[in-house]
Order: sequence, then structure tokens, then C-alpha cells
Amino acid sequence: MAPLVWLITGTSSGFGAAMVEDVLSRGDKVIATARNIDKIASLKEAGAAILKLDVTSPPEELKKTAAEAAGIYGSIDVLVNNAGNTHFGMLEDATPDDWQAQFGSNFFGPIYTTQAFLPYMRKQKSGTIVFISSLAGFQGFSTLSLYCGSKHAMTGAAASFAGEVSGLGIRTVTINPGFFRTSLLATGNTRYIDTRFDDYKPMLKQAYEQFEGIDGNQVGDPVKGAARIVDVVRGEGLAKGKEFPASLYLGPDCYAAAVKQAEDNLALLKEWKELSNSTDYS
Ligand SMILES: NC(=O)c1ccc[n+]([C@@H]2O[C@H](COP(=O)([O-])OP(=O)(O)OC[C@H]3O[C@@H](n4cnc5c(N)ncnc54)[C@H](OP(=O)(O)O)[C@@H]3O)[C@@H](O)[C@H]2O)c1
Repeated sequence: MAPLVWLITGTSSGFGAAMVEDVLSRGDKVIATARNIDKIASLKEAGAAILKLDVTSPPEELKKTAAEAAGIYGSIDVLVNNAGNTHFGMLEDATPDDWQAQFGSNFFGPIYTTQAFLPYMRKQKSGTIVFISSLAGFQGFSTLSLYCGSKHAMTGAAASFAGEVSGLGIRTVTINPGFFRTSLLATGNTRYIDTRFDDYKPMLKQAYEQFEGIDGNQVGDPVKGAARIVDVVRGEGLAKGKEFPASLYLGPDCYAAAVKQAEDNLALLKEWKELSNSTDYS
């Protein structure tokens, strides 16, 4: 396989940094991006090209960054929409600014970044776009409506977008990781919004303590997770010989949750079949 050129957002830590290292180890080229490029100096030393890219930048700025990126190696074969963060809080407490901030980085960011890079992929009639969604992209969790909402929105948009570009030689995959030991739940990347309502205080306290306890103890290894994502894109390792998937559940916790959800959905569909099918004109 000829070396691919990757561009990955949010490579200062976690999955992003691990993917850059893995991509380089396979002989591909990679443009590592971050909103603060001082944080990715080590990736440059490892052989990556680096570029400043804040996914919440205005679309026009993202288009300029895409043009600069496309000029580095002459093409962009794989775009990984990885950058993201987590905002916790009760739906009733979250302000319009809170919703905008969470959707800005986790939904509008990947969408506008994809729009910026698409012209290059359409021109070359090939490309792969990876959307890093989440377990929270297909399930709901109390106190996580902001994060879940942003990831569900990305998953839905990506699923619709897939059919728009499949005839143009462009593949898309949505990756749903379970809990992996990255910086995602560390202070700085996570925002805990307080509640104004006594009714929610016990639930919020319990949830925040639980999530703070999870930080640093997640069973998922981001180096292995990143390698599996690269396997899928390159059709290597456990992905060898398999058809390129529309979506992927990464980590045993996420896989088990997806299976349970599918089974529960089927049971619900069966239970409500008569009512569901009773609405057409006679
Ligand atoms: N770890 C998990 O358990 C898990 C589970 C499901 C989904 N995910 C998803 O995986 C992706 C990567 O997260 P991670 O787990 O690797 O956590 P991480 O270590 O916190 O990495 C998040 C990255 O996103 C970057 N970022 C945040 N806002 C940005 C912006 N506006 N522009 C550019 N970069 C930005 C951060 O950069 P800074 O250093 O500048 O903050 C950081 O490099 C996220 O989309 C996350 O939602 C993770």
C-alpha cells in the first residue's frame, strides 16, 4: 500500500497523540494538529508535520488551514476528527453558552473541519474521514446531556454524510470508544457545571464523584485503541480482509453496551409492534 497522508485533530494527548505515533510507525505521513502547537513539539521530533488547528475556529480560517495542510505533502488521504472535550451538567442548568461551547468543539468543529478538507478529497476522488464519537454517541447518561447530545449529533450527521460521498470515492467511519485512559476526564478538558436546583444536588454529587474516580482508572489503553483505528483505515491486523465498517465499537465495555442496546431495542420494538404499526390511512 502506498503511504497515506493523515491529518489528525487534537493530538496534544490521548488518542490523537497515540494515533500520530502509530501512523508514523507504519510508514505513513501525518500532519499532527493542535490548538497549541507547543504541546506537540515531541510529535514533530518523531517525524510528524505539525500545524495549529483549533476546531472551533471560524470556517474560513479552517479552510485556510486545510489549504496549508494540503500543500505540505500534496494530498490529504485521511482526516481524523478526534479533538473533543467533555462538559458535565444537568440539562436544566446548561445555558445557551454552555450548549454552544460543547457543540462548538464536539459537533460544529468536526463538521466545519470536514467541510474544509472535503474539496481536496473530492478532487482526488479518494479519502477516508474518521469521526471519533463515543459510547455517549449512541447512549444517554444522566448529567451528560451536553456531551451525549454533541456526540449523538455528530454520529447522525456522519451517518447521513456517508451516503453523500460514498459515490465520490470517500469513505467515512464513526468510531465509538468506551472508557479509555486519556486526559479526557482530567481537569482542564472536563467542565463540571454546578446546579442551581436542590432537586439535582444528590445526583450531581454522586455522578461527579463517580466520573472523577474513573479518571486515571479507565481499563481502555489508548495506544491499543489508536492502533485498532489505524488498522481499520489501513485494512491491517484484525481488520485485514474485512469490509470497511460504517461504525465501530472500541473497547469491551462499549461493545457489550452496544449489544445490550441492540437487544433491548429489539425487545422494545416487539413489545410495541402493534401500536407502532397502527397509524397508516386505512
Ligand atoms: N477517552 C475516552 O474514554 C473517550 C471515550 C469516548 C470518546 N472519546 C473521544 O476521543 C476523542 C479524543 O479524546 P481523548 O480521550 O484522547 O482525550 P484527551 O486526551 O483529552 O484529548 C482531547 C484532545 O482534544 C483537543 N482539543 C480540545 N478542544 C480542542 C479544540 N477546540 N481544537 C483543537 N483541539 C482540541 C485537546 O487539546 P488541548 O490539549 O489543547 O486541550 C486534546 O488534544 C474526543 O473526541 C473524545 O470525546 C474519548
